[in-house]
Amino acid sequence: MLMLQHTCYLLACLFLILSIRSLSSPRTAILGNRLGILGILISIFAAMSSLGLTPLLLSFCTILLGAIIGIYFALKVKITALPQMIAVFNCLGGLAAVCIALAAVLSSSPKLFDNTFGMIIGGIAFSGSIIAFAKLQGLMKGTPFHFRFQHFINIALLLMVVLMSIIFIFHPNFYLFFAMTFMVMVLGCLLVLPIGGADMPVVISLLNGYSGWAAVGIGMSLNSQILIIIGTIIGSGGIILAYIMLKAMNRSVINILTGGFSGNSGNQHLSSNASIPNSASPQDAAFIMENASKIIIVPGYGMAAAQAQHSLKNLATVLHDKYHADVKFAIHPVAGRMPGHMNVLLAEANIDYKDVYELSDINQEFSSADVAYVIGANDITNPSAKRDPSSPLFGMPVLDVEKAKTVFFVKRSLSSGYSGVDNPLFFAPNTIMLYGDAKAITEQIVKYLEQ
Ligand code: TAP
Repeated sequence: MLMLQHTCYLLACLFLILSIRSLSSPRTAILGNRLGILGILISIFAAMSSLGLTPLLLSFCTILLGAIIGIYFALKVKITALPQMIAVFNCLGGLAAVCIALAAVLSSSPKLFDNTFGMIIGGIAFSGSIIAFAKLQGLMKGTPFHFRFQHFINIALLLMVVLMSIIFIFHPNFYLFFAMTFMVMVLGCLLVLPIGGADMPVVISLLNGYSGWAAVGIGMSLNSQILIIIGTIIGSGGIILAYIMLKAMNRSVINILTGGFSGNSGNQHLSSNASIPNSASPQDAAFIMENASKIIIVPGYGMAAAQAQHSLKNLATVLHDKYHADVKFAIHPVAGRMPGHMNVLLAEANIDYKDVYELSDINQEFSSADVAYVIGANDITNPSAKRDPSSPLFGMPVLDVEKAKTVFFVKRSLSSGYSGVDNPLFFAPNTIMLYGDAKAITEQIVKYLEQ
């Protein structure tokens, strides 16, 4: 039986590693998802195979209940709310680690270090994810929350937790462990509170990584190899994704770990300035596009909110087939509200992968483009990120759309994007605002182009 269980674990790991490999390309992502599901199913089967009848039934019922709740929310949640859902997953992962560690300490488990490690990381993931969820869901203000001696208090709390852990390992005591759990949860909240909405994707990935490392601690405590392996995959995946995003936003690791890497000044509120931006109708836009030979489309959160991906596909098709224009899509790494958000939507509309470019591959092409069609995007084009050190966005690489001959911004108003920072590009001489819903405006342009 043990042999079968270990073989299953090995198979499950193989599938999970292949799953991560396949998820790295949009072409193989669906296969990656299936391999991941298979890997998890095999590991659940293997873990349950060694249980007696009563724990087996109990586990089965709880898994079934969890699966029903999970499937219900997965079907119901809007794609724009996926980051919140991931925050809830991280929160539950962290909570599970904390509960198992508490139960193990209560039953006098000798694995003191492993339980403490799992509890600390799990506790931070749990409470940090609650704050991240509240910020993303709009239950709390997305702006950074700062108070006096913030970093000092965080470091003092962390040092106290480390000191208490050492004492606990040499003199185990449940009340000490319980007090530590409480302090860790406070620390988790304090670490995420100062982080602004624009930096939330990094936090979510980091917390995802934390929940994985918490599982590793608990896996060591329970002597469960599969939990250690899956925890390591989630832990390193989350940290690597956070690192990639940090690079994309030009933020530093120390900054994020000490909580508070997003500035809170620099809201220029240009929209209240006296100057009025250029604006035009979809018909005017169609006329300019008819005569363009190179068009770069920049989708953002508003494209997702309006579900304009199919209209965009029609726009690209008519421009290419009827007007022989070279049409490309430029994707910023944090466009939308989750990693790969734009890629998923463009793939859903059957837009060819070869026309979709990453920021680093397309940025130099804006200077040779006739039109940049910025649809429902804002922060990812904001030039303050390059020029204004007082801006919260400063340092984040952005798409150089202003270098195109004409820049169309499709949005409903001059209001700011997720970061709350106004975009001076709306007032540039080569910018033309197309006010309205992303889908409706694009459909009208397509109609004029087809006529
Ligand atoms: P944003 O800067 O948030 O701008 C989106 C714009 O879309 C808004 O200014 C809004 O303007 C417009 N909009 C909303 N609904 C629309 C509709 N139905 N039709 C037309 N326009 C609409 O988006 P972005 O440029 O994609 O940048 C993403 C931001 O989100 C970054 O700050 C990023 O850090 C943050 N973020 C990213 C992620 C990930 S991982 N991608 C996760 C969380 C947060 P109007 O109201 O005037 O229409």
